[in-house]
Amino acid sequence: MLIFKGKVVSGLGLGKLYITLPWVVTQIREIFGFTPYPGTLNLKVEKDVRKFIEERADVEIKPAEGFCRGLTVEVFVEGNVRAVAVIPKVIGYPEDLIELIAAENLRFKLNLKDGDDVTVQLP
Ligand code: CDP
Repeated sequence: MLIFKGKVVSGLGLGKLYITLPWVVTQIREIFGFTPYPGTLNLKVEKDVRKFIEERADVEIKPAEGFCRGLTVEVFVEGNVRAVAVIPKVIGYPEDLIELIAAENLRFKLNLKDGDDVTVQLP
């Protein structure tokens, strides 16, 4: 098990574009059993942490033609909120970033704003 801290940052809205693609939604439902809130919560993490998560992210979201693969692993935020870390396998993606998807809006549920630290548990 790994417990790490991530810092909430804003992205460019790309997570939302990805996570609302119908073939992504379908696979998240099938694999994890929830319908993702339309967006991703971006967290800045240590590069070593990111590397470790990537090694553990062994559930693949299979891409439609022309899209990149997404690697995923289940995590728990602030102790008990279930989420899924998504690592897009795309060249140039920052080495210190992960994106979380969840059934609900995590900022709202956990009262988060940019710059806040969150604790994430990787079972
Ligand atoms: O704009 P940005 O790329 O950071 O985010 P987005 O993917 O367009 O998601 C819209 C907003 O919902 C952002 O503020 C995310 O941080 C937030 N979000 C969240 O709080 N919980 C989620 N499960 C997904 C997105």
